[in-house]
Amino acid sequence: MTLYCATSNAGKLREFRLAGQRFGIDVMEMPGLQEIPPCDETGRTFKANAILKATYYGQQAPGLLFADDSGLEVDTLGGAPGVVSARYAGPGASDAQNNALLLGNMRGRENRRARFVCVIALANRGEMIRTFRGIVEGEILDEARGAEGFGYDPLFYYAPYQKSFGEASVEEKMAVSHRGRALTAMFRYLSDSPQRHKAAK
Ligand code: IMP
Repeated sequence: MTLYCATSNAGKLREFRLAGQRFGIDVMEMPGLQEIPPCDETGRTFKANAILKATYYGQQAPGLLFADDSGLEVDTLGGAPGVVSARYAGPGASDAQNNALLLGNMRGRENRRARFVCVIALANRGEMIRTFRGIVEGEILDEARGAEGFGYDPLFYYAPYQKSFGEASVEEKMAVSHRGRALTAMFRYLSDSPQRHKAAK
């Protein structure tokens, strides 16, 4: 089956496709996504933004479509950057700029606890079906490690692996990550009922 996603983030797309392969699901960027004016992500939660995106883009998708909203929550920063993770250092900020701001804000702080959160919203031609949530706990390093992944990965230390997500392979990361967990929940949900597959054909 084919499942459309509403992202042009190459890092996310790579992870979506990899996770889909395990379930025999072909994840594809929604046709024409680049021509559609971007959805305003005005929600105050990951869930609200994921729903906004799935219903907005889903109306123009030829079948089942999902959208994710994700980000990093750092305890000592009161949950920042949170829903503004992609634009922490300002609109259009690069990963390097966001990471530099985070490192600066974390300087001298003892509590390094943080988590990545991902909410995926699944819609059928713009009608919401369900949301799925995934979380992974970790710590913020005091310098970047590794060049794998994207976003804040080089600053996110995952103790069970004794490495940062920037040092983990995409397979290792997806086995435990917020996105991997949310996706697995959605793929299981879809696999549980052949009826749900039909909408995607
Ligand atoms: P979104 O596209 O609005 O969901 O923004 C997500 C932002 O959160 C990304 O641009 C990254 O800055 C950050 N983020 C989300 N997931 C990850 C991840 O798996 N690794 C690193 N950064 C992430």
